[in-house]
Amino acid sequence: MLDESATPSAIVRYLDQYVIGQDDAKRIVAVAVYTHYRKIARAKLEHVPVAKSNVLLIGPSGTGKTLLCETLSHALALPFVTAEATSLAQTRYVNEEIEAVLQRLVDKAGGDIERAQRGIVFIDEIDKLKAPDGQPRGGSGESVQHALLKIMEGSQVKLGAGTYIDTTDILFVCGGAFVGLDEIIASQTHGYGFIATTSGDNQRILDRLNTRVKPTDLFTFGLIPEFTGRLPIMARFAELSRDMLVRILTEPKNSIYRQFVEIFGNEGVELKVAARVFEQIAELAIEYKTGARSLRGIFEELLTPILYVVPDDPSIREVQVASLFNEPVFVRRAAEPKA
Ligand SMILES: Nc1ncnc2c1ncn2[C@@H]1O[C@H](COP(=O)(O)OP(=O)(O)O)[C@@H](O)[C@H]1O
Ligand SMILES: [Mg+2]
Repeated sequence: MLDESATPSAIVRYLDQYVIGQDDAKRIVAVAVYTHYRKIARAKLEHVPVAKSNVLLIGPSGTGKTLLCETLSHALALPFVTAEATSLAQTRYVNEEIEAVLQRLVDKAGGDIERAQRGIVFIDEIDKLKAPDGQPRGGSGESVQHALLKIMEGSQVKLGAGTYIDTTDILFVCGGAFVGLDEIIASQTHGYGFIATTSGDNQRILDRLNTRVKPTDLFTFGLIPEFTGRLPIMARFAELSRDMLVRILTEPKNSIYRQFVEIFGNEGVELKVAARVFEQIAELAIEYKTGARSLRGIFEELLTPILYVVPDDPSIREVQVASLFNEPVFVRRAAEPKA
């Protein structure tokens, strides 16, 4: 566990244990978090207001946006809640919904308002608040953006029973897939082709410049300018490659594979899954187009029939899975030699 003065690199090292890849995003978020809690500490000493810098995470579904925020909250032992922008847009009682979100944050903090006021709120699917294509602004999405703006800037929100929560120091992280944003960025980038692109480094900087999201891009996408102006820090999450999906299955401290190795271990059985199987699962997950989200389901489906028979048969000491499409091999203990 880290404390609130943890440096960005210490935060990234912690995140690395659970979140695979997304290195740029990890660094951006780590610096944002570090600065955020620094500012709070300084504001307390100097009695000056905090200039908020909220964070926007952009990337396809299932690539680790929520996981990164949640891991961050664990790392810093801060209360953490998520909310869906879409469900805020579907209700006529936006403010009540927002109050409910903040109430959940207080609950997460064990009723401690002070702790809740330093927590993290993740608002997902923020891109769904955009004005519908070809329609004038001013719909329900826009009023939700205004309501969110107010709490993101910092305000006193009444939580019933006469308690108030001050949202000034809460770190707000917004997330969304922003489908179509790349076309907007591409249509507005100037070519950097005149710069020599012979070395790998140059190409990386060029790529970064060319994929940088500007507030005007979010405006063109359909968010209101006041709102995009409140999200100065943006981090992009990359689509997960096959290799990254394989690593997600096996590498994190609490990876799906490790969890099952432990479950089998408790039965006195060693689980051996061939590397090929993880690749097959990753390939299926890519076809399902839900990022890493379908990995667990596919893996569980593979192991359920095995877990059905193992507890009944104490002679099994090892299970070998060589392919997703072959029967597993059960290795049994040699019978006790007769005396
Ligand atoms: N980069 C990643 N590293 C490790 N696990 C990941 C990663 N991305 C996704 N996952 C897995 O997929 C699940 C869904 O990811 P999530 O963070 O909710 O995606 P989203 O980007 O849609 O918020 C996570 O709970 C985690 O198990
Ligand atoms: Mg999510």
